Amino acid sequence: MKNGASLFVFGARRTIHRVINAFEGCGFLLKDVLAWKKESAYHRAQRLSIVLERRGLDAEARVWHGWRLGNLAPIYEPIAWFMKPYRIGGTITDNVLENGVGAMNFQDCQINHANPTNILEFGFEKGEIRIHEAQKPLRLIEFLIKLTTREGQTVLDPFIGSGTTAIAAKNLNRNFIGFEVVPEFYEGALKRLNAKGNNICAEPLQLKLSKHLVI
Ligand SMILES: C[S@@+](CC[C@H](N)C(=O)[O-])C[C@H]1O[C@@H](n2cnc3c(N)ncnc32)[C@H](O)[C@@H]1O
Repeated sequence: MKNGASLFVFGARRTIHRVINAFEGCGFLLKDVLAWKKESAYHRAQRLSIVLERRGLDAEARVWHGWRLGNLAPIYEPIAWFMKPYRIGGTITDNVLENGVGAMNFQDCQINHANPTNILEFGFEKGEIRIHEAQKPLRLIEFLIKLTTREGQTVLDPFIGSGTTAIAAKNLNRNFIGFEVVPEFYEGALKRLNAKGNNICAEPLQLKLSKHLVI
């Protein structure tokens, strides 16, 4: 990564703090924790009264009527946004001039004609192919890439999955490097890229652990 470049980690609400500790321990600066607000969330919170009834505790069940066990509906996913530190003694503006990264592209990231906030509401487009359990909406990844990079710069996603980041990078004229350890996902991502008529010249190189893609 270049100094001042951005790094995004999609995490889980209950473990993202460990990711943040680990990256801070490596010297990265935490810029923000964004919230990706999803359209819906799978949710299970057991009715306490029913659990108690099953135990034959009818009186207690009446007392606890309306209460539930578990968590609230997990409607957002946290995204830790880090920056690789820039030169000591320099400013962030110096860094932008020296390395071409570190600023935010508000011009191309307007949401309903307003400047973006740290709550990102993006869902899947109608007809967007879904091939991976943890697939992210293309528009969300495009937003993050547009916000932090310029055309011709390079995006790295070490966890390709369905290839969303690769497609987003390609759509936005950024270079892309990625890795995927599961051959089926790697092939699926390539198919998804090529399905768009991109003519991606991916090299299915078998590395020690994972296949990689450079476009
Ligand atoms: C959360 S998914 C990525 C989803 C992706 N952002 C998308 O939109 O489809 C993470 C992927 O990383 C892959 N992975 C996990 N460990 C890896 C490793 N060490 N090297 C390469 N890929 C890895 C998994 O197989 C999985 O497909």
